[in-house]
Amino acid sequence: TNFFSKSDCLKGKKVLVTAGGTQEPLDPVRFLGNRSSGRMGYAIAQAMQEAGAETILVSAPTDLPVPNGVKRISVQTALEMHDVVLNNFSDMDVIVKAAAVADYRPATNAEQKIKKDGTNRTIELVPNPDILAELGRRKTSQVLIGFAAETENLLAYAQEKMHRKNVDLLVANDVTKPGAGFGSPTNIVSFLFPDGRRIDFPQMSKLEIARNLVEEIVNLLG
Ligand code: CTP
Ligand code: CA
Repeated sequence: TNFFSKSDCLKGKKVLVTAGGTQEPLDPVRFLGNRSSGRMGYAIAQAMQEAGAETILVSAPTDLPVPNGVKRISVQTALEMHDVVLNNFSDMDVIVKAAAVADYRPATNAEQKIKKDGTNRTIELVPNPDILAELGRRKTSQVLIGFAAETENLLAYAQEKMHRKNVDLLVANDVTKPGAGFGSPTNIVSFLFPDGRRIDFPQMSKLEIARNLVEEIVNLLG
């Protein structure tokens, strides 16, 4: 609980949220993507805005409407998301990286549609920049929130990511649990902190999780 009312506890703060799964083009009609729906990130943007923050949502393609009062900047690829996030970073108080960013992209993006010829094909992939890790190296006073979606060894992998990327809070979720992860309106998460603290939440709506995240961000901002 804190002194301020729910509607103004982030008043005057600038928050950038990333959401959705990036799409990495192969040619004009095809891309490599992932199963992220964007729901968690959109719920976070809504909760930040409701808490009074000036909220920018950097979104990979989704079917979701822009939450009221939120400024959306649409991107497709990890490289586009990287540029938008880095260009806005120094102005922000809080960055929440809920997006599922492609780790790799096709080495070439063909100008014309690739034609079939009945033979085997391989796609060469090259690594994308790790946006969150770069923010972790550059951060000054910003509060940095990361996510880890895992299918095994959830807490160990999540803890390793939290330290490697220098984040202030990591939201860990096991995407194999029913009621958690991709496309679901609910999620089952834990918040991990660099001091070793951990909060395990029961299954709840993504908006409720987002409101809990707002509370922790208020504490982290001091
Ligand atoms: N992330 C990012 N840029 C990338 C990859 C990931 O900013 N190129 C961010 C995600 O938005 C998320 C966090 O890093 O907040 C963790 O993403 P995740 O895919 O779980 O971790 P990776 O470090 O990519 O490790 P791996 O996929 O091998 O488990
Ligand atoms: Ca990844």
